[in-house]
Amino acid sequence: MTDINNEQLIVVGTGIRATGQLTIETIAWIRAADKVLYITADPVAEEVIRSLNPDGAESLMDLYGSDKLRLDTYADIVERTMNYLRQGLRVCMAVYGHPGVLAMSTHEAVRKARAEGYTAKMLPAVSAADCLYADLGVDEFGGCISYEATDFLLNLRAIDPACHLILWQIGGVGVLTYETHHYPLVGLERLTQKLMAYYGPNHPVTLYEAPQFAGVDPIIGTGPLCQLPHSSPTPNATMYIPPLAKPQPDTQVQWELGMQTQVTA
Ligand SMILES: C[S@@+](CC[C@H](N)C(=O)[O-])C[C@H]1O[C@@H](n2cnc3c(N)ncnc32)[C@H](O)[C@@H]1O
Repeated sequence: MTDINNEQLIVVGTGIRATGQLTIETIAWIRAADKVLYITADPVAEEVIRSLNPDGAESLMDLYGSDKLRLDTYADIVERTMNYLRQGLRVCMAVYGHPGVLAMSTHEAVRKARAEGYTAKMLPAVSAADCLYADLGVDEFGGCISYEATDFLLNLRAIDPACHLILWQIGGVGVLTYETHHYPLVGLERLTQKLMAYYGPNHPVTLYEAPQFAGVDPIIGTGPLCQLPHSSPTPNATMYIPPLAKPQPDTQVQWELGMQTQVTA
């Protein structure tokens, strides 16, 4: 069993809905830390963190800025975390969602802390994708590919139209800076063209936002792919595209193994 006193850096996630998705283990670490460096724009999550550790809680949101490259912000986050570790404090980084999902600074902080001889650990948490699976009824059994939207747009990434497809940060596609409300949607048109080469214009796509607060419904907007450039996905939106077709069977392997029936979970 892990001794809670051993870790010097612990990286946790508050889930998408901090009131219901904080694990008991995460709560214990937030309480036990000398410094809780948190990243959330959600006032409820902020209040929960501050009430768990009133003396040690410190927001990192001041490191974000309009027109500032997100990569520069991530470097600043790691540097501030390391400064507290070097002062001999036990540091808890608390970010919304899962701390390892599209969260460059948390992975880098763990790597850097270990490289400097500190003990560091990341705990799993509920991510936006976990909420999406539940709210949209998506089962990974059919295969699921997920990309960061700008990464998908700017690189030659593979798509399997027989899989579920999730595109993160669709509201900021084609933008490398941080914006507080809406991003300029420069890349949405080009992204749509790229996707239409696989799915055609009329395949349904869903813009999804998981609720951050108890008792609130998710925001789910579905329409044909060709209409995507006319939508306004927010920074919190994730895009989901259902499979277009069934996978092509590998008849050779099925024949070799005598397994011509449909595989089920
Ligand atoms: C920097 S990533 C952080 C992901 C986060 N670490 C997680 O585990 O979900 C930000 C992206 O997460 C997704 N996201 C964040 N909050 C969301 C929400 N409430 N509903 C749906 N997607 C969300 C969006 O794709 C957003 O652009």
